[in-house]
Amino acid sequence: MAAGLFRAEMSMLSSTLARTYSIPFRKTLISFDSRIAMQRNSLPRTRHSRVASLSSSSPSHSRNFPVPGIEDVFVGYLFGRKKATEVAHVVWEQVIQKGDMVIDATCGNGNDTLAMLKMVTDDSDYFGGCVYAMDVQKESIESTSSLLYQTLGSKESFSIYAEGMQKERVKLFNMCHSKMEEIVPENSSVRMVAFNLGYLPGGNKSIITVSNTTVLALRAAERILMPGGLISLVVYIGHPGGREELEVVEAFGSSLPVSDWVCCKLQMLNRPLAPILVFMFKREK
Ligand SMILES: C[S@@+](CC[C@H](N)C(=O)[O-])C[C@H]1O[C@@H](n2cnc3c(N)ncnc32)[C@H](O)[C@@H]1O
Repeated sequence: MAAGLFRAEMSMLSSTLARTYSIPFRKTLISFDSRIAMQRNSLPRTRHSRVASLSSSSPSHSRNFPVPGIEDVFVGYLFGRKKATEVAHVVWEQVIQKGDMVIDATCGNGNDTLAMLKMVTDDSDYFGGCVYAMDVQKESIESTSSLLYQTLGSKESFSIYAEGMQKERVKLFNMCHSKMEEIVPENSSVRMVAFNLGYLPGGNKSIITVSNTTVLALRAAERILMPGGLISLVVYIGHPGGREELEVVEAFGSSLPVSDWVCCKLQMLNRPLAPILVFMFKREK
């Protein structure tokens, strides 16, 4: 089969028990974004360009800008018609290339994992690309698996992973994101680490991301991210501890050296509980 496969791996790092399985990756649903260049990991990428590229201090300095659709989403966000997560996704598209390895540090219901998967893979399976997705809740791992199955393949196609026979596109880990370095293969180039902080929508609201592990995860992300990579955060502050977590995120981003990082925040002024977007772009050398 020409189509790729993804492997869902539910593992407790502290446990010797790990379930590993995979399903066919339906090729027709992965054919999207023909705008992204066909050269694996090569820069600049070919995008439809309407304005000249930005200066060399910009994250987009080696690319044509903007991506079609990005203005719509940003302007939509400014006028209250687009969600923070939609803005995050178009920003990811600026950075992620086919074949990349990316990390979803809070997979929850799997919406972000699915979006990332579509950005790193293509229907020919030529580029490879994979998403490492994690969550502390088993329920989230199951929810993400379920979304992937619904979107990419049927339950019937669920099969035991046979080493060497199937390719992995998504790996799911039931673990804390502060330990992400333990699951990323050594010397990997990680293009993006994305966080969608807070609690699982529709789930247990007492299980939330917390400042002390979030900052550990951010430090880990800083260590493993490749130049030209992105740490992306959507921060929710409507729940207890949310504001403190935002302060920790802001302090972390503010501390990164300007010579190596571009860090910014998007926040609604008159919607005090609206999610806040934080982007930390690691400059290319
Ligand atoms: C806002 S939800 C994520 C939504 C998800 N990105 C989506 O697309 O549906 C936040 C998730 O973070 C998870 N979480 C909380 N603490 C965590 C930790 N230390 N490490 C990894 N995930 C964590 C929660 O269980 C929850 O599922």
